[in-house]
Amino acid sequence: MSGLHLNNVSHSFNSGNPVLNGVSVFVGPGELVCLLGPSGCGKTTLLRVAAGLEHLQVGQVTIAERVVAEGRHGKHIPTEKRGIGLMFQDYALFPHLNVLENVTFGLPENAVERRQWALSALSRMGLADYAASYPHILSGGQQQRVALLRALAPEPRVLLLDEPFSGLDVTRRVEIRAETLDLLKETDVATLMVTHDPEEAMFMANRILVMDEGRIIQDGTPVETYFEPLTAFVAALFGPVNRLQGVVRNGHVATILGDFEAGHLEDGAPVEILIRPEGLRLSAAGQEAEIQPGDTPCKPTPVDNGNSAGARGRTISARPLGRSSHVELVLTAEDGTEITLEARIPGVFLPQPGAEVLVTANPRQTHVFPAS
Ligand SMILES: Nc1ncnc2c1ncn2[C@@H]1O[C@H](COP(=O)(O)OP(=O)(O)O)[C@@H](O)[C@H]1O
Ligand SMILES: [Mg+2]
Repeated sequence: MSGLHLNNVSHSFNSGNPVLNGVSVFVGPGELVCLLGPSGCGKTTLLRVAAGLEHLQVGQVTIAERVVAEGRHGKHIPTEKRGIGLMFQDYALFPHLNVLENVTFGLPENAVERRQWALSALSRMGLADYAASYPHILSGGQQQRVALLRALAPEPRVLLLDEPFSGLDVTRRVEIRAETLDLLKETDVATLMVTHDPEEAMFMANRILVMDEGRIIQDGTPVETYFEPLTAFVAALFGPVNRLQGVVRNGHVATILGDFEAGHLEDGAPVEILIRPEGLRLSAAGQEAEIQPGDTPCKPTPVDNGNSAGARGRTISARPLGRSSHVELVLTAEDGTEITLEARIPGVFLPQPGAEVLVTANPRQTHVFPAS
């Protein structure tokens, strides 16, 4: 199988608990797969195993149809012979080599075409004037670009990236993500990229592998992973979520916000309902929800036909975030218990504290799971 294939890989350090537990990963040529998971779940270890920086203990690693590692003291092809490009978080450029020498480091003397590629790629990334400069005069973003070109110069079959943009500020990061995608599109390289940033994974990936405690718990496109999370953990990985409790009755669960579909769960099962802040719709009830003076208000979103029946709530606070507004509100259930929710509303929607709002939930952004 071409591309990168990790088959049933397990790994532990110092005979402790497994850090990787039967992980299988496939990345096809030209594909970019993001490994997304919280800190400490084993992402870097998986990349190091694929690269041969850790000796494989259990399983098999195949790169471009060649078995490069087998567990139980089997085969171990060293990193530099695996045909991979590597870029880790602390990508260090060689300080004593100039930019062009950094990119072409390790290429054979007669690799004329790749040297030309290096020059033209530097030029496309706005670095032509720095070809003869030393890395220390470059900004963080420029160094990052050079490191990426260095990894790609030998035309690897597989590219392994570990949080490659984490050291950059937000604006730079967005630019470089887009440039990186453009550059990769022209190659046939199979890219496995580690990130703990769900937005980055959504932006970059053809497929997202969600990892938790050394296991892959979901493998899907960005849209599938976001809209059809398999577990509450995956749903919550994409940011804060509101949680309600309920019980399945005749394929539905009744909540303070209305009924939600739960046909996939057994009747009588206790469930947890997760609603993303961007899945709540608010509309001003009566005149109480006032827009702060000086803001350009967008109209409160009307209740979508497809939304839940909804409930009346009271605003606790409302803060502008720029592109959206963050509203915290409280609902009072029939038995008097109070439920606090957070909503993220596109544009400027800033009801006064205490103002009454009508709250509904978009079923597409609402996920029902068995109670944990
Ligand atoms: N060389 C090592 N020796 C012992 N434990 C390690 C080593 N490298 C990583 N670990 C442990 O393995 C777990 C996974 O680490 P890592 O793969 O770096 O996670 P991630 O990249 O997802 O943050 C962590 O608990 C970490 O402390
Ligand atoms: Mg890591």
